[in-house]
Amino acid sequence: QRLSYAFVCVCVCVCVCVPSAYLIYSSSVAAGAQSGIEECKYQFAWDRWNCPERALQLSSHGGLRSANRETAFVHAISSAGVMYTLTRNCSLGDFDNCGCDDSRNGQLGGQGWLWGGCSDNVGFGEAISKQFVDALETGQDARAAMNLHNNEAGRKAVKATMKRTCKCHGVSGSCTTQTCWLQLPEFREVGAHLKEKYHAALKVELLQGAGNSAAGRGAIADTFRAISTRELVHLEDSPDYCLENKTLGLPGTEGRECLRRGRALGRWERRSCRRLCGDCGLAVEQRRAETVTSCNCKFHWCCAVRCEQCRRRVTKYFCSRSGGERLRPRRRP
Ligand SMILES: *[C@@H]1O[C@H](CO)[C@@H](O)[C@H](O)[C@H]1NC(C)=O
Ligand SMILES: *[C@@H]1O[C@H](CO)[C@@H](O)[C@H](O)[C@H]1NC(C)=O
Repeated sequence: QRLSYAFVCVCVCVCVCVPSAYLIYSSSVAAGAQSGIEECKYQFAWDRWNCPERALQLSSHGGLRSANRETAFVHAISSAGVMYTLTRNCSLGDFDNCGCDDSRNGQLGGQGWLWGGCSDNVGFGEAISKQFVDALETGQDARAAMNLHNNEAGRKAVKATMKRTCKCHGVSGSCTTQTCWLQLPEFREVGAHLKEKYHAALKVELLQGAGNSAAGRGAIADTFRAISTRELVHLEDSPDYCLENKTLGLPGTEGRECLRRGRALGRWERRSCRRLCGDCGLAVEQRRAETVTSCNCKFHWCCAVRCEQCRRRVTKYFCSRSGGERLRPRRRP
């Protein structure tokens, strides 16, 4: 019985204490939160807000108490990362108490296929990640409700992006019947899904002072309950990320690199100089740089590889207040 009074603490930005029975999950939770942060940096690499460290305070006490669209994304991707990693660990056999989800095996799934095989156990990942991530929200105010809603949206995104994989059965692979199971996608897909949700995030308007009374708190709960947990929600508008703001810990876009030419640039990347520089009233400055790489490598019998050093001139682009080319701003954000 003494065990039930022992707690372990996990620090992922802030510390969460949970019963020590959960100790076995703590490295997985920390790794999951880290992968969420890395995905945030990847998804926002060419946005004005690029997921800076100060944004990554998950707790609603201490740190930043912003409640904008970006805060919503940080909560969702972190909670998705934790759930994803726990689920993956489970499938890899890292935990004794969990394995495949075979609860539906044998049941008809759809036309011509049955559930079978080893589905990734997202139910497990969901339950454990809830214990850790949602425990950070101890308040009863609108911010806590917003954070919990976005944590849930992150977990929903993991489920929504799962892939059905099937195997054919029948005489010499004639595929008269199939068995199918659900697999986790690459985490990148969860990130891309949540980035779309970020663009479509809903702003929740609450009356001033709601939350100061029991009735007010009930109204907050009702308001959030009415919104699908597949959607991200926020309470405040975002600040102007073009500008440096020391109070808010924002660096502004001056000095940021942007992309212009390149083999495989998507539309979002190709527009990055306009978005980061031009629309923020900054010029685009070219800087030439030289990169040195190993090249023309040859294998010598036996056994050495010798390479030459190749120098390549590259042009990089940066937002600059002084010199450089001015793009005509389309609009101020
Ligand atoms: C779960 O996976 C992560 C990363 O894939 C790894 O760092 C962590 O140690 C794993 N946890 C366990 C308990 O094996
Ligand atoms: C920084 O942001 C705060 C809060 O939005 C605002 O009141 C203040 O005017 C901003 N400061 C600058 C220098 O823009």
